[in-house]
Amino acid sequence: ITTSGILIGRVGDFPEGEIRPAAMPDGTILAIYNVGGAIYATADLCTHGEASLSEEGILTGNIVECPWHFGTFDVTSGAPTGMPCTVPLKTFPVKVIEDGVYVQL
Ligand code: FES
Repeated sequence: ITTSGILIGRVGDFPEGEIRPAAMPDGTILAIYNVGGAIYATADLCTHGEASLSEEGILTGNIVECPWHFGTFDVTSGAPTGMPCTVPLKTFPVKVIEDGVYVQL
């Protein structure tokens, strides 16, 4: 852990349009998204029923769809955008420094 945050990988580890898991030092998993070249981080578990978004979510633009009940969130803000999801996803700031991707908890 540095002042930049927690290093979770290189830019190339997070391909555009895809979702990847990232483990935090305490074992918590975050979901990491590349939306048009910008990287975002949210809690991994859907706030509706705890599906893993990094494993099972479908990313379309900046919207992730949970496959369990088809709820959706805006990954850039965590806001729920489709029923049955009503509770926002927690989001975390992401910084890219040189080629390193850092999450701030
Ligand atoms: Fe995600 Fe129900 S668990 S929409």
